[in-house]
Order: sequence, then C-alpha cells, then structure tokens
Amino acid sequence: MTVHFIGAGPGAPDLLTLRGRDLIAASPVCLYAGSLVPAGVLAHCPPGARVVDTAPLSLDEIVDALRDAHAAGQDVARLHSGDLSVWSAMGEQLRRLRELGIPFTVTPGVPSFAAAAATLAQELTLPGRAQSVVLTRTAGRASAVPEGEALARFAATGATLAIHLSIHVLARVVAELLPFYGPDCPVAVVWRASWPDERVLRGTLASIEAAVGDTMDRTALILVGANLGAEDFGTSRLYARDYDRRYRPLGATPRFPAASDA
Ligand SMILES: C[S@@+](CC[C@H](N)C(=O)[O-])C[C@H]1O[C@@H](n2cnc3c(N)ncnc32)[C@H](O)[C@@H]1O
Repeated sequence: MTVHFIGAGPGAPDLLTLRGRDLIAASPVCLYAGSLVPAGVLAHCPPGARVVDTAPLSLDEIVDALRDAHAAGQDVARLHSGDLSVWSAMGEQLRRLRELGIPFTVTPGVPSFAAAAATLAQELTLPGRAQSVVLTRTAGRASAVPEGEALARFAATGATLAIHLSIHVLARVVAELLPFYGPDCPVAVVWRASWPDERVLRGTLASIEAAVGDTMDRTALILVGANLGAEDFGTSRLYARDYDRRYRPLGATPRFPAASDA
C-alpha cells in the first residue's frame, strides 16, 4: 500500500501529468483538497473509489484516513492543487507518514505560476532584464511569513515576483512594492488560470488596485516586474549563429569538439 501525493495542476483537467492520471486511476481511495482540485481530475478515479474532500478535515483526520487505507491495504491518490512543492501542506503529511512507516510517492504537477505565465504568453526571465522569479506570498491567518522574506526584501532585487495567496491584500502589496519598482512597473493579475472562467487584468503598480477592485478573490496570482509585456529585451546568445556550443561546435578549435550527451 502506498500514498501517492499528486500535483493536480492549476485547474484545467488536462494539465495533469500522465503519471498522475494513471496513479489516480489505479488507486481505490482518493483524498483531494476540495477548494481547488477540479472535478475533471477526479473523473480519473476508478469506479467505486472512495473519494474524500479533505477541505473540512483536520490534519489528524486526514492522517486517520491514510492510516485506515494503509490498514486495508489500499493505495491512496492524495491530490493537491498545482505542484506539491509550494503551499500544499504536503510536508506535514509526509512527516506523519514517516513516523507511521507508511510508504508514499510524490508526483509533481503544473504550478499555478507557470499556468498564469502561459495564460499571459509571458517568459518570466528575459535576457538582459530580470533573471530571477520569486515565488512568494504575504502572511495569512494560517501561516506567518518570516521577517526576512518581507516583500520589500525581494522587491529590492528587481526580480519578477509571483505573489500567491495575496489578492485580498492587493493594496498592501502595491504599497510595499511601489518604493522599489515605481508606479509604472507592469503588473498582471491572473484569476483562476486555466479554468474555463479564467480572467486576466493587466496594469501598473499605480493602476492595478483600481482595475481589480473587488472583482477577484482567493485564486489569483499577482505577477509584478519589468519583464511583463516587455519587448525591449536582449536575444539569448544560446541560439546566436556564432555561439560555439556543445550541440553546435564551431570553428577549428571548438570548445566541445564532438557533440555528446556527457
Ligand atoms: C494554497 S496555494 C496552492 C499553490 C499551488 N500548490 C501551486 O503550485 O500553485 C493557493 C494559491 O495559489 C494560487 N493559485 C492556485 N491556483 C491558481 C490558478 N489556477 N490561478 C491563479 N492562481 C492560482 C493563488 O494565489 C492561490 O491563492
């Protein structure tokens, strides 16, 4: 018996990995985080599967359900939205499973920041401009954020920011970022990226608050940075005709004499 933690993706059911789909189809029990996992993903559960929404459960109750399945010798598909490596509460569940000696696997999913960037058709790292993306959030009722990770700290770097779990405090986000990025800095807010009712609002730090108003709640990502919508960026050397590289050796004495996988 194994608990399979599976990143269920940002919303669109076909943004699930094939491995995730197959594990769901092979597991007689499915526990899913009901607030964000779409019904289309649950459709892969086998007929007769026990499908449990964990949104109203405590950690202890979730662990009890996993332990019961273990005792019954039943594999479990444990679904969380997006990818499991960020804000999934997987860590605390794995810790309990390790203590109980219950085996598990982890299958990644498409994270919401990647889905939002795809919606915007936006590369978040552009040559000659910002080369880092910060996945972050503001403090919430359930989770504090260490002081050293205040938005202002990241803003001081000029990186592209992907701010999660924060649309309800957009005014505070804007106020913290303005001194670093300035009023003309581009901002995009993507609400429910990849869902059928997905919405996008673009603006600047000066305008985005009024544009969003109270039209978006919870499932929105705030992207901030000079790369958004930019056309005046460099061209990668990687594909330059005169760039001597492993897979395209150039000249009499190439740096990598023969293309190889080494
Ligand atoms: C609890 S976190 C889960 C993050 C998830 N594990 C991931 O990989 O993106 C929920 C937050 O992620 C963001 N989010 C999740 N799905 C989203 C989507 N489809 N569109 C926009 N933002 C999304 C929102 O900021 C939301 O408040």
